[in-house]
Amino acid sequence: MEKIVINGGKRLAGKVFVGGAKNAASAIVPAAICASGVCVIENLPIVEDLGSFRDILTKLNVKCEMLNDRAMRIDASDVKNVPVVFDSVRKIRASYYTMGALLGRFGQAEVAMPGGCDFGERPIDLHIKGFQALGAKTETSGGVLKMKAEDGLKGASIYLDIPSVGATINIMLAAIRAEGQTTIENAAKEPHVVDIASFLNMLGANIKGAGTDIIRINGVDELKGAEYTIIPDQIEAGTYMIAAAATGGDVTVTNVIPKHMDSLSAKLNEMNCTIIEDDDSIRVIADKPLNAVNVKAMFYPGLPTDLQPQMAALLMTAHGTSIVTESVFDDRFRYVSELMRLNAKITVQGKAAHIQGPAELTGAEVTATDLRAGAALIIGGLCAKGKTAISNIAYIDRGYENVVGKLRELGADVERTG
Ligand code: EPZ
Repeated sequence: MEKIVINGGKRLAGKVFVGGAKNAASAIVPAAICASGVCVIENLPIVEDLGSFRDILTKLNVKCEMLNDRAMRIDASDVKNVPVVFDSVRKIRASYYTMGALLGRFGQAEVAMPGGCDFGERPIDLHIKGFQALGAKTETSGGVLKMKAEDGLKGASIYLDIPSVGATINIMLAAIRAEGQTTIENAAKEPHVVDIASFLNMLGANIKGAGTDIIRINGVDELKGAEYTIIPDQIEAGTYMIAAAATGGDVTVTNVIPKHMDSLSAKLNEMNCTIIEDDDSIRVIADKPLNAVNVKAMFYPGLPTDLQPQMAALLMTAHGTSIVTESVFDDRFRYVSELMRLNAKITVQGKAAHIQGPAELTGAEVTATDLRAGAALIIGGLCAKGKTAISNIAYIDRGYENVVGKLRELGADVERTG
């Protein structure tokens, strides 16, 4: 089985290019189903999930052609609304975006319920509530969600109990062709929600307010193709910024939108790092002992939950006791037991992890329990004395392009083996 093996203790230094946002691509690629024309999507991340999406779209008779490593031509002119129940659907949770896209275009859809409960319950009740509000009758049987809007989709006013990214995007995908106006209140505000709304407007949709609590959508009759460039990946950028801080390094992440990184930059600053921002880059210099701090992972613009494990790994090297609180997912501390194998001093109480630092970290055999847990183990391995071998790295490859190559460029002693 392939592993990532790290000999820790090396300072990271230099520049790292950040790829396109995985969680924007995971929505924008399936959203091309809504267009009765050709889309060209640029700045795609080079990650495994994209291959699964190409497989799903191809089975829907959507023509997908890679123009280069980072650009895909998608032609959904002749899309077939067949049941989306292929194996690849269960591989990627974001396949649930085909629900909103197919329902929006055809007024009906059949899609397998998403897999993946890597950290606690991950229901899609808010997605389904939104589809029902738009006039779809829904039924779940045999792990497949069946939806049909007999009289077509009609605009509605929808309040989300939780500012769910997935529900916000899926309801937008269904509402863009609905008759009349739809409002989504308590909408998610993450950068990739804004990115998908911008893409849909390029297709001819009429969406206003993305990035705020209230999104207004006026239905349109048709959506054409468009060319679109995906935003940089906020979480990949943040992961390298955190790795720089954890190794006492000096790293510049390039091809980023500094505004998207504000919550992390402020936290690293609070920890005693120097943060230098330019138009599309951020430099992190960690040449002083790091302060212990408290971190609250939450919805945007708070510190992203997808950086919570990486922050916990960083805080193992800070001086004092830090508390990391998770307020988005029910159980996102499963990775802690793997960090303990590196000799971390962490205790988890409910939705908070108490981290004593600096810990005398020593390398060990560890296992990634999900994508961002894998990133946390990489950061732990970079800081630990001796060799750390990380297995289950398929998780990491789903969200990080060429992670070993990029870390080696920055001076890490890391390789893939097996
Ligand atoms: C997206 O997941 C991301 N995935 C996640 O990134 C990210 O952690 C999450 O948003 C939060 O930012 C993709 O974009 C593919 P949510 P999503 O709906 O949409 C509850 C990564 O590592 N909820 O915002 O599934 C849910 O259980 C991944 O890149 C409901 O209760 O997240 C959670 O507690 C991990 N009912 C909270 O809301 C629903 O119908 C936020 O979930 C939907 C969500």
